[in-house]
Amino acid sequence: MTSTLVTADDLFQRVRHVVPAVEWATMIDDVEAILRLKEERNAVILAHNYMRPEIFHGVSDIVGDSLALAREATKVEADVIVLAGVHFMAETAKLLNPSKTVLIPDLRSGCSLAESITPADVRELRRQHPGVPVVTYVNTSAAVKAESDICCTSGNAVKVIESLGVPEVIMIPDQFLAANIARQTGVKVITHPGACEVHERFTAKEIKQIRADYAGDVTVLVHPECPPEVVDEADYAGSTAQMVSFVAENRPARVALITECSMSDNVAQQYPDVEFVRPCNLCPHMKRNSLASIRHALETMTNQVTIDPAVAVRARAAVDAMLAV
Ligand code: 13P
Ligand code: SF4
Repeated sequence: MTSTLVTADDLFQRVRHVVPAVEWATMIDDVEAILRLKEERNAVILAHNYMRPEIFHGVSDIVGDSLALAREATKVEADVIVLAGVHFMAETAKLLNPSKTVLIPDLRSGCSLAESITPADVRELRRQHPGVPVVTYVNTSAAVKAESDICCTSGNAVKVIESLGVPEVIMIPDQFLAANIARQTGVKVITHPGACEVHERFTAKEIKQIRADYAGDVTVLVHPECPPEVVDEADYAGSTAQMVSFVAENRPARVALITECSMSDNVAQQYPDVEFVRPCNLCPHMKRNSLASIRHALETMTNQVTIDPAVAVRARAAVDAMLAV
């Protein structure tokens, strides 16, 4: 949590392990402007765990995984929400706060999963599998959510599927998340050939190499958007927030977070006793967020997220069903 009472120097102490002083000096103007604009606009910044450290530790009010950001969005009292993340996250915040202004720093912040599927694809799956419930990963457009029975995130997918009490579900659009969850629940899963361009690139060979490099003395945590053979090599698989909790509770001496690059940078600050091995892949969409783009959105109030009301009412029902589980 930051406020204008916090100085840029205080904030530097939180990022100095990853941001050199000379670089921070170039950021101070934007940081101070954002802190001031948040007060003026009565705005809060919700930031995903993949944000750069200067956003995550510097200007955000609430940080978390997709589930936490959706839950927190239901509690916001401010007039303006800046969602530092990707477009589907900002849409979810808007679905849950139709009367508030929701800004996204860069409208081009997409997601390979969200782009892999259309509402027509969902309708076709329903036609092929009549009566089978559709569980949709939140990494989708509002229009796709509107065709769904319930949403899920990587943090609650098992719970959501088990809550349905059915032998078979359509789980879209991430084929790897679907395969991993099918193995955990024993429920038959029909899926779609979508994948996260960041997590699909990790390989089992890479994980074996990390273990060999440290003579086995490393705890490996992977995101369930990775292929099942990568999850098989891990000590634990979970959402980005579940990875943070695992580190907090188990304090491994050395850990590898198999996910997007900023995760380790952000988490390492809180756990100086843990060594972070940093194999990672960058998400180009998450990285479109910068201090400059956040400042610009707040200064100009541009990049407002809008959703067709007819779509929003159906999409919100699927998100609400998830939050009720
Ligand atoms: P989490 O919900 O685990 O934070 O994942 C979001 C995401 O985009 C992962 O690639
Ligand atoms: Fe989408 Fe993958 Fe980027 Fe997450 S990391 S926003 S799933 S492309």
